[in-house]
Amino acid sequence: MAVLRPTLKFIGASSLHCRLHPLSRIRSSAFRAFATNLSPPSKAVVYEQQGPPDQVTRVIDLPPVELRANDVCVKMLAAPINPSDINRIEGVYPVRPPVPAIGGYEGVGEVYSLGSGVSNLSVGDWVIPSPPSFGTWQTYVVKEETVWHKIDKSVPMEYAATVSVNPLTALRMLEDFVKLNPGDTIIQNGATSMVGQCIIQLARAQGLHNVNIIRDRVGSEEAKEKLKNLGADQIYTESELEVKNIKGLLGDLPEPLLGFNCVGGNAASLVLKFLRQGGTMVTYGGMSKKPITVSTSSFIFKDLALRGFWLQKWMNSENSKDCRRMIDYILSLVKNGKLKYEMELVPFEDFKGALDKALGKLGSHPKQVIKF
Ligand SMILES: NC(=O)c1ccc[n+]([C@@H]2O[C@H](COP(=O)([O-])OP(=O)(O)OC[C@H]3O[C@@H](n4cnc5c(N)ncnc54)[C@H](OP(=O)(O)O)[C@@H]3O)[C@@H](O)[C@H]2O)c1
Repeated sequence: MAVLRPTLKFIGASSLHCRLHPLSRIRSSAFRAFATNLSPPSKAVVYEQQGPPDQVTRVIDLPPVELRANDVCVKMLAAPINPSDINRIEGVYPVRPPVPAIGGYEGVGEVYSLGSGVSNLSVGDWVIPSPPSFGTWQTYVVKEETVWHKIDKSVPMEYAATVSVNPLTALRMLEDFVKLNPGDTIIQNGATSMVGQCIIQLARAQGLHNVNIIRDRVGSEEAKEKLKNLGADQIYTESELEVKNIKGLLGDLPEPLLGFNCVGGNAASLVLKFLRQGGTMVTYGGMSKKPITVSTSSFIFKDLALRGFWLQKWMNSENSKDCRRMIDYILSLVKNGKLKYEMELVPFEDFKGALDKALGKLGSHPKQVIKF
């Protein structure tokens, strides 16, 4: 269970899950320091109410937390700002922590100290919360031993920080919907996203062709070049697909059997147009906030199937046993240079700037990863 370290100045103690009344903890910690196992104070991105993330979040200092026998105190190294983190703060994500809350859901840290009963982790180990767990946007996180998964320390920290959500989503979506064979083609929109970049490389590794749609944006040629270098076969901006015979663009590639949509609106319609008879489109995001429109003929004459994927649901199911194994597998791909994606490591002091970039206020930017 996550532990929030409240300061009464900012956060109502009654609404927080805390082990002691905060004032009693602060007063007593000085003379109990030798008897108890306390975390260091933590700096955290907190929001007291849901709303626009750039308005409702603030960085505050939180007092030490007492470690119980099974607790592990982790000094966070890095954590990303994902679209779902933003949606949780906005209050539009179906599962979110009660407010006041600390932001973040995944990340990597180094074990700083251990409760007396912890036996499987050591100080200095690198760990990630797996499955991911709320409250990673802070300098010290205290959670039970079972939350933490020890990982290979030789992987770059920004990859360890980001492995649990997006690469895992890409991996699962390629496996779980349609039986694909080498030589088949997949189509996706939002190809510049971290999930999109992973799909390109994982598909390529399986011998699948991939067709990619990106939005019209400043620097689209540069973006295309980067995706090509990752193994993209074809990349189109949405406006380049305003053609009569969209499938004519495929050339020698087989018509796609499976499509991925994380944008909605026109970008989703384009994925559907590319799909072959009996094809499937999996929706996993809605970056444009626009609905998906499906023509009647797509159903009648093409018999298309529309599916959805939600990693959080998948992790809560029986499949979750495999979660840590797959994370280790993805990190081994990273280590062997078989999986990479663009990120920008940003010092924690610049959190607000990173948040503005993640919110799209400053145009397109790579995934923002906070370095603590
Ligand atoms: N269902 C699940 O379990 C699950 C799991 C993981 C991720 N997701 C979803 O997958 C999507 C991608 O996540 P990510 O972390 O990989 O993304 P990311 O790396 O943060 O990149 C954001 C992507 O969204 C695009 N984008 C931003 N605003 C847009 C708009 N208004 N219209 C169209 N495209 C827009 C960006 O395009 P530019 O490069 O052109 O700026 C970029 O491709 C998100 O919707 C996320 O919620 C879902």
